[in-house]
Amino acid sequence: MKVLVTGTGGYIGTRLAPILMGRGHAVTGLDTGYYLDGWLYSDPRKLGLAPQMLIKDLRNVTAADLEGIEAVVHLAELSNDPLGENKPEVTYKINHEGSVNLAKLAKAAGVKRFVYASSCSVYGVGSGEFLDEKSAVNPQTAYAKCKVMVERDVGALGSRDFCVTFMRNATAYGASPRMRFDIVINDLCALAWTTKRIAMTSDGSPWRPVVHVEDICKAIYCALEAPVGAVNGEIFNVGQNSENYRVREIAAIIADVFPGCELTTGKSASDNRSYRVSFDKIASGLPGFSCDWNAQRGAEELRDLFTRIEMDKDTYAFRAFTRLKQLRYLQKTEQIDAEFFWR
Ligand SMILES: NC(=O)c1ccc[n+]([C@@H]2O[C@H](COP(=O)([O-])OP(=O)(O)OC[C@H]3O[C@@H](n4cnc5c(N)ncnc54)[C@H](O)[C@@H]3O)[C@@H](O)[C@H]2O)c1
Repeated sequence: MKVLVTGTGGYIGTRLAPILMGRGHAVTGLDTGYYLDGWLYSDPRKLGLAPQMLIKDLRNVTAADLEGIEAVVHLAELSNDPLGENKPEVTYKINHEGSVNLAKLAKAAGVKRFVYASSCSVYGVGSGEFLDEKSAVNPQTAYAKCKVMVERDVGALGSRDFCVTFMRNATAYGASPRMRFDIVINDLCALAWTTKRIAMTSDGSPWRPVVHVEDICKAIYCALEAPVGAVNGEIFNVGQNSENYRVREIAAIIADVFPGCELTTGKSASDNRSYRVSFDKIASGLPGFSCDWNAQRGAEELRDLFTRIEMDKDTYAFRAFTRLKQLRYLQKTEQIDAEFFWR
């Protein structure tokens, strides 16, 4: 298929595009490039195929960008809760309006499939019970509220000829050149490696399902390649049941992989998100999908990567590897305007 992947300059998109190309799809990338300053490592084995990438804001996409495209995988958004709280009004413009507009343009252009990267953070605060795709959502932040609104509004555009699928990803981890050290496993592994301290920002009690970035990519290609009837209008939680952890359990796994570290907890602070998620539906309902990774192997992968690249504190702290830091830097240096358009 000819696939437009938005967000190919980001953490997941950088890994996804070569995987889709390796499966024979013709990929065009699109990204505004907020994080292009950061490139943690090279790996020609996994990153040898790179798509052509339009450097363009989602909000400026036109019908011409979708000409001849058969499927859209949409990842390009402000990508986490703190980022959304930084400037909620811009988050709504990009994540909600930009995404719905992209889907409308895609449908009008005759695109057949639209796969959207939603998030388990739509569940917000649960009480420890397993939440599935039919459970009530409880979004706590502008970011998560946008995910719910996009699912609703893009869901309404779905038809026999415009197959829409929503992937509610657990929190990702794993190696990507456009690294994110603002997601829990990547962050704690980098802390362990650079400081010998695994410092949780919460008291460690919140539930957090996690999933490897390669398994997210696998779920996306399974959704793209599935019979329409299996995925049209469907929501899938992306992950596996055994990968629901309390944050302190994640920290203990990391302590095991990075021996000799001190483990500390923090105050729960403002982040009250805690959700435990059922992944039964994707296990039985998405043809070809099962997870290949778990948190332990993911931590080992990062330890091996840090060893190979001699990862240091400055690299860990580099702005482009923490989404909020990089956007604040681009704002402060007036490289982007109040609406986050490049000047
Ligand atoms: N990483 C996770 O843990 C996770 C979990 C659940 C859902 N998701 C979703 O998956 C998607 C990708 O996440 P990621 O971790 O790769 O995030 P990321 O921040 O690394 O990548 C997002 C990309 O989108 C681009 N982008 C942002 N605003 C844009 C705009 N207005 N126009 C064009 N491009 C724009 C950025 O430049 C960036 O390259 C996001 O929608 C995110 O919400 C991620």
